[in-house]
Amino acid sequence: MKHILLTASTIMLTTAMLGISSVALSDDDNNRGQADHRYNDQPGYSDRQYDQTYRRAQQKRPGVAPVNNPQYVEECGSCHFAYQPGLLPARSWAKLMTGLDDHFGENAELPTEDGNLLLDYLLNNAADHSNFKRSVKIMKSLHPSEAPLRVSQTPYFLKKHDELTPNRVQDNPKVGSLSRCEACHTEANRGSFSESEILIPNFGPWEESEKEEKRSKYRQR
Ligand code: HEC
Ligand code: HEC
Repeated sequence: MKHILLTASTIMLTTAMLGISSVALSDDDNNRGQADHRYNDQPGYSDRQYDQTYRRAQQKRPGVAPVNNPQYVEECGSCHFAYQPGLLPARSWAKLMTGLDDHFGENAELPTEDGNLLLDYLLNNAADHSNFKRSVKIMKSLHPSEAPLRVSQTPYFLKKHDELTPNRVQDNPKVGSLSRCEACHTEANRGSFSESEILIPNFGPWEESEKEEKRSKYRQR
């Protein structure tokens, strides 16, 4: 017991020293995101320390690696949510980046040099190069010949979202489309998609309202 207390206070002290305001050590996804920001923003940490911590966190924490490239956020997060590279395989990103002049009906072309830098970033951090839980699951759901351009068309994604009714998505003025991850997943930009963090605009938390509805539907059968 003494040992546990000591460990807990050491963690508190360490996090306090690092200037982290909220410590939620029990929530996997949350911590994962925090760990990344924390070490990324700490100039005092060597690359090796960063890598070690990152790897440790990666082994323990489910979710997707958060975006850690400001240029990516700027260029690919201006029209929509900056989709984490770990949400699609490298082959999908390669295909998407060669068709930016007709990107889902929009012109999202970039100067060659910028495009190449972002392509490198996407390829290096793609789902097939990540051991984060969601990346692994997305990869497992895909046939090696498949290279979807949409996260929202991967089999894993479709399976996870098949209980959402149109009134919550397409007909919900505050959502509109399943491509808008951040509309429902309150921690999406930290790479965290835990069920407990889902808040559907106009409907509320998924766990309570939606599950209750499902239960009542079940009872009616
Ligand atoms: C000029 C605006 C614009 C820019 C800039 C842009 N996109 Fe998009 N992107 C779109 C539109 C529009 C869609 C389709 C959204 C929809 O169907 O709701 C889209 C969809 C996507 C999707 C599929 C989302 C899904 O449904 O899973 C991905 C992935 C994506 N973009 C990646 C990128 C990347 C990577 C970049 C940077 C190189 C980028 N986008 C830059 C407009 C843009
Ligand atoms: C309309 C709201 C909504 C939008 C938009 C949405 N999701 Fe979800 N998401 C949900 C719900 C509801 C679930 C189901 C949670 C459950 O019951 O397990 C879910 C589940 C998930 C899960 C699995 C979580 C788990 O605990 O098993 C992932 C990963 C995920 N979403 C990622 C995304 C990504 C990436 C996007 C954008 C491309 C997105 N979602 C867009 C509502 C949404």
